[in-house]
Amino acid sequence: MRQLDRTKFEELTKCDWIVDHSSVLITGPCGVGKSYLACALGHEACRQEKTVLYFRMPRLFQELETARTAETYERLFKKIIRADVLILDDWGPDLMTAGQRRDLMEVVDARYGRKATIITSQLPVEKWYDVIADPTFADAILDRLVHRSHRVPLDGPSMRKVNSTLSPRKPSFARILQEQRHATAG
Ligand SMILES: Nc1ncnc2c1ncn2[C@@H]1O[C@H](COP(=O)(O)OP(=O)(O)O)[C@@H](O)[C@H]1O
Ligand SMILES: [Mg+2]
Repeated sequence: MRQLDRTKFEELTKCDWIVDHSSVLITGPCGVGKSYLACALGHEACRQEKTVLYFRMPRLFQELETARTAETYERLFKKIIRADVLILDDWGPDLMTAGQRRDLMEVVDARYGRKATIITSQLPVEKWYDVIADPTFADAILDRLVHRSHRVPLDGPSMRKVNSTLSPRKPSFARILQEQRHATAG
């Protein structure tokens, strides 16, 4: 239904992508389950004793901006840099401002090759370039994020509608994780 590649998802739950410091790019229309999937992977990472930090993307920019004026930027920046997994939920569609793309560049550059990232977006990865709205920054940022990435494109109807109408038994990633743990334990 959401055309999720289960084999790929199960592979991702092993968290090798975290050890490899790569990124997971989850794309698809509204309600398809991007945030849910990102958080399921984040949850699994926590279980494997990784540190995970979650931000909706607009919120990250806002917090960095606020921290700069409050002179707590270094502290926040270090916290962001140190997380084994950084989840950035909802890339775009609004174009980034000059300050936002500079902040994102700092974060992405400091984590590149050292830490792992999950990004979700309604826009296909090919359109992220335009959201950064500056070719030089776009090349630099996307080079680092897309270069070593696992792509998870989702498609299908909104899970919000599906869950509220005809689904007495919700399909659940918790279940996949549980089954998998069972398999590896036994
Ligand atoms: N695999 C799933 N099992 C159960 N509920 C899900 C699943 N994926 C998504 N949902 C539910 O569907 C709704 C939409 O999912 P969400 O991740 O917010 O979508 P998106 O981020 O793509 O807009 C949420 O209420 C979420 O809890
Ligand atoms: Mg979402």
